[in-house]
Amino acid sequence: MATQARGGRARNDAVATVLVINGPNLNLLGTREPEIYGLTTLEDINRQLIALGTELGIRVESFQSNSEGALVDRIQQARGSIDLIIINPAAYTHTSIAIRDALAAIEAPVIEVHLSNVYKRESFRHHSTIADVVEARLMGFGAEGYLLALRAAAKMLMAKQSERRGAK
Ligand code: DQA
Repeated sequence: MATQARGGRARNDAVATVLVINGPNLNLLGTREPEIYGLTTLEDINRQLIALGTELGIRVESFQSNSEGALVDRIQQARGSIDLIIINPAAYTHTSIAIRDALAAIEAPVIEVHLSNVYKRESFRHHSTIADVVEARLMGFGAEGYLLALRAAAKMLMAKQSERRGAK
């Protein structure tokens, strides 16, 4: 089932909104193959992201689904309302052209995150359908990777804002 969480500053004083999307089986974080994915639950990660977002002036929205279509729908809904997407498509990273096309269709920059270093694992995990449509990729830092991605997102968004100001 799809789950959603929202947090950070109230919409009117947030500088930007970042959407964090997680794909299949990541709802089981904390108990799923903890030797690979760690003991931190997705709820913990979302709570930490919201807290960090508040510090950084970023409103964080989170979405998880086990279904490819629901992930595509959420990406489409982000058009025009989300400033940046952080996504861990999980197993769909390696197979989904639909998720790749949805990400390519939106203007917001995208950061791809994986808890594990997929290149140290089975070869079927080495291919990412989204690698060439994302701005940056981060992997192997476990749950911390999402927080690193949010910090990077804040820098990217600030740079974009000052570019826009400079262009005026
Ligand atoms: C993953 C890596 C994928 O290969 C795997 O299918 C996942 C999680 C990661 O975060 O390391 O479900 O995306």
